[in-house]
Amino acid sequence: MSKISLAVEVAGLRLRSPLMNAAGVLGMSPPILKRVYDSGAGAVVTKSIGPAPRTGHPNPTLVRVSCGALNAMGLPNPGAEYFVDEIKALKEMGVPVVASFFGGSVEEFAEVASTLSKAGADALELNASCPNVQEELGMLASDAGNVEKVTATVREETRLPLFVKLSPNVTDIKEIAMAAERGGADAITAVNTLKGMAIDINFKRPILTNTTGGLSGPAVKPVALRCVWEVAEAVDIPVIGCGGVTTWEDAIEYLLAGASALEIGTAVMTHGFEVYGQVNEGIRRYLEMNGFSGIKEVVGLAHQIGEEQDSRADRCSIRV
Ligand code: SIN
Repeated sequence: MSKISLAVEVAGLRLRSPLMNAAGVLGMSPPILKRVYDSGAGAVVTKSIGPAPRTGHPNPTLVRVSCGALNAMGLPNPGAEYFVDEIKALKEMGVPVVASFFGGSVEEFAEVASTLSKAGADALELNASCPNVQEELGMLASDAGNVEKVTATVREETRLPLFVKLSPNVTDIKEIAMAAERGGADAITAVNTLKGMAIDINFKRPILTNTTGGLSGPAVKPVALRCVWEVAEAVDIPVIGCGGVTTWEDAIEYLLAGASALEIGTAVMTHGFEVYGQVNEGIRRYLEMNGFSGIKEVVGLAHQIGEEQDSRADRCSIRV
């Protein structure tokens, strides 16, 4: 049995494993999130919490598509005050909690961040990237100025590690990640879902009531991996990879691309809670077989090897 530790430190948060669940997929019920932790995750991420109770979009809000799922829930949640006790319950069970949150205005983001910090969360994940709502700020993560402003305002409200979750549905994710870093983010979660849609050919209309939804699962992995790669080159804060992680090989790709930790979402629906333990074990074996003593040694390694190859190619090129 290997003794290699999978512990990581992300933005000051020490985790026994680099794995977390992605916000939303498993809701917020403390016993369910406890199962994620018991299955091997290092921390759990809550469903995105807003300032007030919100019903979200009417059904259908979720549809399975090839290689993934499309969802357009519309951020349903019972409001920040309700979550205070849920967060406390998770903490009493010994589970590290990352509270995902959103607001409809800069002030609301700050207000919710403050409530969740006082509730005892270990870290906050600012959801700047839900593709399914038209709030006052629109899809926040498509505007670097808004991202910087909201991040900076939230930063003043909390001393907790602050992750900012970005969207792949932007022209240049590097620019947005740098704005979050300027605003005081401690880490970037890359990325939320990819905007997509599905049509029912018999009813001849979109399946989701919201028409479009966010695509998750293996289909988005190459896109999300590219985002992690780009963000890791653009910022000096840690990157948390999210998007289609299903196997340990996916996880290693993300680590090599520059992710310091990973969120697994849709794979829980297809592979069950066991996915956390399976991915942990695969990572551990990979580290062992490749002579690494910990995860830190792998994070971003593909960038360094790429640079070495470039400089070798330069040295070998024949100049005329
Ligand atoms: C939703 O509730 O519509 C999805 C949340 C998200 O993608 O951030």
